[in-house]
Amino acid sequence: MKLFIDTANVNEIREAEKLGIICGVTTNPSLIAKEGRDFVEVVKEITEIVDGPISAEVISLDADGMIKEARELTKIHKNIVIKIPMTLEGLKAVKVLSKEGIKTNVTLIFSSAQALLAAKAGATYVSPFVGRLDDVGHNGMNLIEEIVRIFDNYGIETEIIAASIRHPMHVVEAALAGAHIATVPYKVLVQMAKHPMTDIGIEKFLKDWETVPKK
Ligand code: E4P
Repeated sequence: MKLFIDTANVNEIREAEKLGIICGVTTNPSLIAKEGRDFVEVVKEITEIVDGPISAEVISLDADGMIKEARELTKIHKNIVIKIPMTLEGLKAVKVLSKEGIKTNVTLIFSSAQALLAAKAGATYVSPFVGRLDDVGHNGMNLIEEIVRIFDNYGIETEIIAASIRHPMHVVEAALAGAHIATVPYKVLVQMAKHPMTDIGIEKFLKDWETVPKK
């Protein structure tokens, strides 16, 4: 499974990149807004840190507007992937962009039917939102399992990004279900690295080391 980082914060992206664990980045309008910086400037900076797919989202709601924005965004860098919301207009845009060789990530996927349509339209990636489904009393991971099964049944090449990840077990379960990618907030990447037994183990090793006779 590949790991992307889900943030527009360049310091977090730099830290995760140093760890050698991420190979892509996803942003969205809310994450960009949190940074209080110019959108294009932030995206450009991200492309200088990570050499992999960088998702940047369009704001238009009509297909023509989405296509226009996408063509502009792809001029920033060859690694830009256009994030398109899962709507009928979004599907029209994905069809045109995929014919032009522009990679797309269809976002705000909350059902297998939506994922199937996005793939049929030519999406490079689909992003089912696990955490937001859990938030409203559904089992987000069931959705990942269903999409994996459907795509496997028909050899669909669209990659599944488990998105809206809230904790380490979401990543583990998405990996077990066969998601190609999980896009993970920095805080959760750090949580994934930690285990209390590791800390206790280090403490014990260092304590015992003090008793080793030194020449
Ligand atoms: C996906 O690409 C989105 O940016 C993200 O995962 C949404 O997560 P949230 O539900 O925590 O906002």
